Amino acid sequence: MARMDTESIAAEDLFGTASQASPRPRRPGRGRPVHVSGYAREARDFYATPAWVTEALLRHVALRGPVWEPCCGTGAISTVLEQHGHRVVSTDIADHGYGTPGVDIFARAAMPRGCGALVTNPPYGDSGSHAGQSKSPAAMLRFVSHCLALAAPAGAQVALLVRLQWIAGQRAAGLMSAAPWTAVIALTHRIRWFEMNERTNTAQHHHAWVVFDFARAEAAPPALLFAP
Ligand SMILES: C[S@@+](CC[C@H](N)C(=O)[O-])C[C@H]1O[C@@H](n2cnc3c(N)ncnc32)[C@H](O)[C@@H]1O
Repeated sequence: MARMDTESIAAEDLFGTASQASPRPRRPGRGRPVHVSGYAREARDFYATPAWVTEALLRHVALRGPVWEPCCGTGAISTVLEQHGHRVVSTDIADHGYGTPGVDIFARAAMPRGCGALVTNPPYGDSGSHAGQSKSPAAMLRFVSHCLALAAPAGAQVALLVRLQWIAGQRAAGLMSAAPWTAVIALTHRIRWFEMNERTNTAQHHHAWVVFDFARAEAAPPALLFAP
């Protein structure tokens, strides 16, 4: 998959007192394509989110921008958001050759200035993680809780890609019920995280976008939607 790259913007410009972040001109990328060596995975490896997954979110949710992609990887989600006209602030704890590296979401106490939505495929799901990180449901819960804590004071939206069954866990259900979740968008096609010709495996699990909106009108009930 051909990829483009963004200029790295200093984290203090994104979160600090400097002017509101705006994407800088793109240059040809050194973002690497997703690769699979046999069935082995590197500890830092992950599989990028296919474009149709982000497009499914955009078909159902009008995002208030600019959008923060805090775990941008090689920019798979950011690129689609930009193609749909959104300004995107892309950061990641690691340097995958896209966006601003060295930004640990857990070290942030606020959204980047001006951002109205947070959209990502969290590091604890099927598509991979950062070196040494747990992929346990508890780690996912901590991640979702942190995203919600960042979004609440900003009155922002949050859209996270999770396994569909994750939302039925007791603690996940409790967390969602206590927050202004507006929609679950169940993906009726299972995600293929990588293509390996005849060895390509379709994921065992269905995924869903869980969407929250801290500016939601109180009376609006959450929706269960299906995509594509
Ligand atoms: C599953 S990949 C998703 C990449 C991209 N969002 C996509 O959908 O293709 C997870 C990404 O989260 C990043 N990551 C892991 N822990 C992080 C943290 N604490 N703060 C920010 N990024 C993190 C990893 O470096 C990796 O790029």
